[in-house]
Amino acid sequence: MPDNQTPKFPSTRMRRLRTHPKLRDLVRETHLRIDDLIAPLFVRHGNDQQLPIPSMPGQYQMTVGHLVNEVSELESLGVPAIILFGIPEHKDGIGSDAYDDNGIIQQALRAIKSAGSQLLVITDVCFCEFTDHGHCGIINDKHGVPDVDNDATLEILAKEAVSHAQAGADVVAPSGMMDGMIGAIRQGLDSNGFENLPILSYAAKYASGFYGPFRDAADSAPQFGDRRTYQMDPANGNEALREVGLDLAEGADMLMVKPAMSYLDVIRSVKTAHPDVPLAAYNVSGEYAMVKAAGQNGWIDEQRIALEVLTSIKRAGADMILTYFAKDVARWLSD
Ligand code: PBG
Repeated sequence: MPDNQTPKFPSTRMRRLRTHPKLRDLVRETHLRIDDLIAPLFVRHGNDQQLPIPSMPGQYQMTVGHLVNEVSELESLGVPAIILFGIPEHKDGIGSDAYDDNGIIQQALRAIKSAGSQLLVITDVCFCEFTDHGHCGIINDKHGVPDVDNDATLEILAKEAVSHAQAGADVVAPSGMMDGMIGAIRQGLDSNGFENLPILSYAAKYASGFYGPFRDAADSAPQFGDRRTYQMDPANGNEALREVGLDLAEGADMLMVKPAMSYLDVIRSVKTAHPDVPLAAYNVSGEYAMVKAAGQNGWIDEQRIALEVLTSIKRAGADMILTYFAKDVARWLSD
């Protein structure tokens, strides 16, 4: 455009389109909808208990009966989907409750489905909540230092996904960051007749301090070391594109970036590289806890900030958001 045609002040005034609230509505680029949200829920063993999670106000570890009630409340509020995390009664070295037909997740799935819920039920496919050492797979110390054995873990990941599918999961979401996990799970599902069951891959999952409250909630903190040998280095953005490319090649149907708020650039670059693949972002426990805590102290306006955070995650390129605010947002948006 020649310079004399470049729009400039005073012929151009950006404030014109901000003068009227209805005009602002018309020109708004990003819309947060209840339909975009997935509510994470924690299910525990036991009878008729609902234990508050101190670092996540408003969130609970629920026994199966409470979970079923919560699911029907979410459904009536218009929340389309949940993702389930389980806290088993017994943990062991290989997380066997995770693929036990009578494990906590399997019991929860059957209860939700037999109550007639139409809501979409996604399951987190991982081992950290089920192992006594708190890592996301089987440990070996082949090289003198204990670490998660990638290929041994693939076998039980496939078993876990198949077991969730058999109990009624609608989508499986592997979060362990093992190399080859999508391919192994796809193969397991296909060879058991679940070729139509979608995989939502936690493709770009970072070794983040923002998972702190979740590890209290799910009782899943690693008992030694940390997760840096399998989760991504927070300093790396381009590497996310390699992770995502591999997962797509192995058969991932949907992708996820996690956490969300400090990784908006990663969300944007994954969406730009793969505009045709549905992209989720996980507004994780630490992000929720910070907003809740500041809100409870009266330092920020919780509702306004939560909506602003979630809108920014969509603006960055996410098609859907896993968030502990799902139920609140459903209420706020319908007020
Ligand atoms: C692993 C898993 C984690 C979260 C979701 N899936 C924890 C971890 O990797 O340590 C964290 C979610 C959150 O912080 O809200 N099963």
